Order: sequence, then structure tokens, then C-alpha cells
Amino acid sequence: MPAVIMPQVKAPFSCLKLHRSAERLLRYCGLSQQELNVLIVNDTQITEINTRWLNRPRPTNVISFPQESPGLMGDIVISADTARREAAEAGITIECRLIELLVHGFVHLLGEDHELGNEAARRMAAREQELISYLLMEGIMADLCINVDHIATIRQARGGNEPDPVVAAGIVELAGADGIVIHLREDRRHIQDRDVRIIREVVKTRLTLEMAATDEMIGIAGEIQPDIVTLVPEKRQELTTEGGLDVVGLEESVTDAVSRLHKHGIPVSLFVDPEDAQIEAAARTGAECIEIHTGRYADAEDRETEDREFEAISQMASKAVDLGLRVHAGHGLNYRNTARVAAISEISEFSIGHAVIARAAITGLDQAVREMLKLVKGMEA
Ligand code: PXP
Repeated sequence: MPAVIMPQVKAPFSCLKLHRSAERLLRYCGLSQQELNVLIVNDTQITEINTRWLNRPRPTNVISFPQESPGLMGDIVISADTARREAAEAGITIECRLIELLVHGFVHLLGEDHELGNEAARRMAAREQELISYLLMEGIMADLCINVDHIATIRQARGGNEPDPVVAAGIVELAGADGIVIHLREDRRHIQDRDVRIIREVVKTRLTLEMAATDEMIGIAGEIQPDIVTLVPEKRQELTTEGGLDVVGLEESVTDAVSRLHKHGIPVSLFVDPEDAQIEAAARTGAECIEIHTGRYADAEDRETEDREFEAISQMASKAVDLGLRVHAGHGLNYRNTARVAAISEISEFSIGHAVIARAAITGLDQAVREMLKLVKGMEA
């Protein structure tokens, strides 16, 4: 990975945020093949470094060390103690200040130096402002969209009204998720047409409709107007979506579906395996986005396979961004394996369903039993 964050102090901040910021800066400046090390230290440590290498026997907020070695952009050392004090003075969070300092150190590594006079200082401040604006515009962290299909699966098991995925969508949004995902399957095994209609009306964030590229589904999408459609392969016997869409084999029909959805004003994402040929074909269809199928990574039975699949996701995410595609990812992500892929800065959105609904069933069970005990035994919850 090109950006390596090394906290030497207990971190009261998100290293993930710093990592994604550093990687986004590298990509924005066309340096994604370069390595950048960011060391987070305390005031004593930065004083030692400042004294030893720059002959300045005092603490400071950030120091940059450009490196001559090929492939290594340099090292940035930041004092978390000074960052915390400066954040308090400016009335901002320590995370914000750390990102400002990262940008400052980064611009130094690009060769700017505010100590070389007024003009140099003005140029450096302008470059920093440009990079901060870029991070703000692009956003640093990935969005989390929750797939509520499994709420509908539980409802369909009894054929009644409960639990209602519409209610679930509301709770998911109130909890802070960035969007709702539903998959209207041709066999209607979980989400129903009525769910899609009502969820479209009530969702205030973003609605992703997953569907097969059929005439019926394209017609429904046109009526419903989701914020984005994700085209997925569908087989009747499968338990869940198995494997990505074969865009290579179906390029003509997928391109046609993408263009019909575009005529309805709907952006399109293609759910694909992390493979070169699929990503290249996806870019040719005119789709705006791909969703990388993370199933092989999530299902890996040993560390070696997991590492290999992780690398494939990371490399294909980078390739897709180079081809002008936005990158989402999902399938099989859970509470153990998500953090690793969340560090891939090219991925701007995660679509997660089963793990969250399964966790909700278990964590909500205690309260559900207590409420029923109250009815049966008159016991206080
Ligand atoms: N993305 C796509 C395209 C899917 O088909 C699914 C499963 O419905 C998911 C993401 C979410 O997968 P999971 O339920 O395993 O989190």
C-alpha cells in the first residue's frame, strides 16, 4: 500500500481517515505508485527528531523528509500533542488538524517551502488549499449503504407483514447509513414491488436498486427512479448473488441495458468480479460505476487466499478509478473482514446486508425476550 500510517502514540483519532487522505493525495498528484510514510509521534519524540536532523531543539507540529530512493516519496512526522493543542485553539477536531498537517507536510514533499519568502509562502498556501478542497469535495471516507433484503426474507418466511423492510430502511437511515440497497429479484423471493415503491418514497438518503438486466426490471427502474441501479446476474436456484456479472461475455446486452437506464436518467453500476477483463469491459459499457464482488475475499478459508483476494480487489479498484469509474464494493463483508477493505481509498461505497441484519437479530434478541416476558409474566423489562 502506498501510504503507511505509523502511530507511535495511542491514537485518539482515526488512522483510517489519515490513511485514506494520504492515499487520495498521492492519487490526485499522480503519485499513487509512490510510498509515503506518516509517523504520528508525541512532543518529546518530535523534539528529538527536530533537534537531531534540523538542529531546532523544540517541538513542532510537522516535519517532512523527502527521500531520494525510487518509489519512496518521503516521510512525514506529525506530533499528535501539538496537533491536539492547535486543534483546541482553532476550535476544530484533532482529526481535522492532523489532516491539515498531513497536507502541509505533503506539499513540502512536493517541493514547496513557505520559508523561502512571501511568494513561496503564497504558492504553498494555495497548493494546500487546493488539496484540502479536493479532499473535502471528494470526501475521505467511504459511504455505507445497507441492504435490507434479509428483513424481507424473514417476512416472506411467514407470508405476513412483519418485519417490514420499509420500517427497517427508516431505522437504517436514522442510524446514519448513507443509503439503502434493495434487490428486486425476478422470483420476488424477498423484496416485493410494493416495498420498492414505498421505500423509494420514504428514503431520504440514496436508494440503490439491484436488479437483473431484463426488460421488466428496466421498466420498473424507469418508473421508480432509484438513485442508481446495480446490475447483477441472477439465477433462480442460487441462495444469493453468486459471482459477478459476466460483462465480458454479455458486453452487448449489458451496454444496451446501461444505455436504456441512462435514457431513464438513472446512473448504472455493474457488479463484477475483481478481474482485469471484467473491469475493462465494464468501462466500455458506459456505466458510471462498478461494484467489486468481495465474495472470494470474504469466503477465503486461509490467510494466503485472503491476502491474494485482497490484493486483487485493491488493484482492480485502482484500475477502475484510472478508467474513470467510481468503485463500490460488497458481498460477504462482515465485522471481521470489512476494516481491511475499508482502507482501500479508491472504494467510495460499501454495500453490506447479511452481516448487519444477522448482528441486529442477535443483539436485539435480549430486548425482544424481555418485552415478551413482560406480557407473559408481567415482569419488568
Ligand atoms: N452487493 C450485491 C450486488 C449483492 O447482491 C449483495 C447481496 O444481496 C450485497 C452487495 C450484500 O451482500 P451481503 O448481504 O453478503 O452483505
